[in-house]
Amino acid sequence: MAAGGERIPGTPRYRHHQLRNPGTEPFLPNFLLKEWIVGAVFLLAFILWVWFNPVDLGPRANPDDTSFIPVPDWYFLFLYQILKYYPGQYIVFGTVLVPLVATLLLLFTPWLDVSKTRHPYKRPLATGAMVLTTFLVIWLTNEAAVQHRAEVAAASGQGQLSAGLVSLPKIPASQIHLTATDMPGYQIFEQNCSGCHGKSAEGGFGPPIYAIGKYWDENKLKSFITQGSPPKMPPKGGLSSESDVEKVAQWLAQQKGS
Ligand code: HEC
Repeated sequence: MAAGGERIPGTPRYRHHQLRNPGTEPFLPNFLLKEWIVGAVFLLAFILWVWFNPVDLGPRANPDDTSFIPVPDWYFLFLYQILKYYPGQYIVFGTVLVPLVATLLLLFTPWLDVSKTRHPYKRPLATGAMVLTTFLVIWLTNEAAVQHRAEVAAASGQGQLSAGLVSLPKIPASQIHLTATDMPGYQIFEQNCSGCHGKSAEGGFGPPIYAIGKYWDENKLKSFITQGSPPKMPPKGGLSSESDVEKVAQWLAQQKGS
């Protein structure tokens, strides 16, 4: 590193006629000053960028929301992903050992890699390590993002809950537009199901089902309603005839939430 009187190739603009070592300039302050100026320009550009492109805060923390799946910011996703490959008692590999070894290797690179050759092809170990690390970081980041998106989709209304039920978000009845209300199934719904599922299927004692047709087809609906979900929902939803179940299933299958 830069010991006191180290000189590097270059021609100082200041008092260069007094030079004792032509073709070189002192590391301190000449070279470092140039570095600092470039660094300051970068920093200024960065500050301006952040100033004019503010990032909105995410949603407020809500301790009641048990479905929230925490995830680190994108630049830490690769570290987060490593944790998943060391389950149980091996977690210390992911939390401490692997990151520590990688950091130490990086820290000691100036002493480990002392070869004077600069060409990438002539330094297969260093070049290989860099390519491998870059590839791993990109791959792990992508893997973490893909897995997180799948988890969120599975836990929110876009997927199915572990109980096998569709979980639609609760929205005000005024925002729901039921369709095909001229079908006979709609009257059956109003008379027999809306007491639990709400007039607009917005949910009440039973879950919201205003867009159930987006997830379940007529057959799935028919078999679920026929079975019910005792003791919460009676078999056939309280209906007595099988053809009524069929009609209400036909109508519900049309409700796709838009
Ligand atoms: C006594 C109240 C009650 C009545 C009446 C009732 N349901 Fe339900 N329904 C529920 C409850 C509670 C659930 C949630 C079941 C569970 O959590 O196991 C449910 C679940 C459902 C589901 C699945 C919802 C989802 O999110 O996956 C459908 C579809 C459904 N009901 C349709 C009907 C239809 C159609 C009728 C009328 C024929 C009806 N229900 C009548 C209480 C009721």
